[in-house]
Amino acid sequence: MTDQTQTSTHGPAVEQIVELSDAELLKGMWTADDLRRQVDLADRHLWVAIADGDDVVYRELETQDDAEIGREVLGFTLTCVHTYEELDAELQVPVGELFDREDCPVGMFKSLVVKPSARDRRIGTELGLRAIGETFVEDDRVDEAIAVAWVREHNSANLALVETYGELVAEYDEYYGEGRDCPECPGENYCGCTFRIYRAPF
Ligand SMILES: CC(C)(COP(=O)(O)OP(=O)(O)OC[C@H]1O[C@@H](n2cnc3c(N)ncnc32)[C@H](O)[C@@H]1OP(=O)(O)O)[C@@H](O)C(=O)NCCC(=O)NCCS
Repeated sequence: MTDQTQTSTHGPAVEQIVELSDAELLKGMWTADDLRRQVDLADRHLWVAIADGDDVVYRELETQDDAEIGREVLGFTLTCVHTYEELDAELQVPVGELFDREDCPVGMFKSLVVKPSARDRRIGTELGLRAIGETFVEDDRVDEAIAVAWVREHNSANLALVETYGELVAEYDEYYGEGRDCPECPGENYCGCTFRIYRAPF
């Protein structure tokens, strides 16, 4: 299996991504360090949407070209390929509920975020399609992919997007439970939010 670590040289694009994720995604639940750690994985694909005048340019961001990008990042998506053990560590529920051991390695959608000011212009759709092509369709090791989606009334675009790629396989009413300081749930260090897990063959 691939060595999952490499040296981090975060430049301006990754820092914009971290800021965007921190503001828009899981707030206190998925920290900036969590994202930096994921960006540093060797077996990952990071696609960015960059403002180019009135147009949007999409490109895959390698760690080494990050520093070249000084333009505004409008959105990003991060995908990884995980072994059975890595996926088990990543999920809050036993991976055996979702996959048989021989199903892995499995592609995973880690995150997809579009800046609020740039939403509803199909940027999320375009990023998702690129990530699927690169990480899952063109990767011979990967037969299946998984996405974990937060069910929130004010973020139905999230579910609209994953439902175009994947099939709902599980729903958990208290996916995180104790130990996550959810911005939506009352009390400290607790998350009772519902999450859905989607799975797609490639
Ligand atoms: C989810 C998100 C990435 C969508 O980005 P986007 O660029 O606005 O998405 P698109 O314009 O490509 O639209 C995707 C789908 O959602 C629908 N949609 C867009 N905005 C919507 C809204 N406000 N309410 C309901 N549906 C909406 C679109 O109609 C489209 O569906 P369609 O293909 O059936 O027409 C963006 O809302 C976001 O960053 N949300 C916060 C972070 C998040 O939850 N990320 C996903 C989990 S990691």
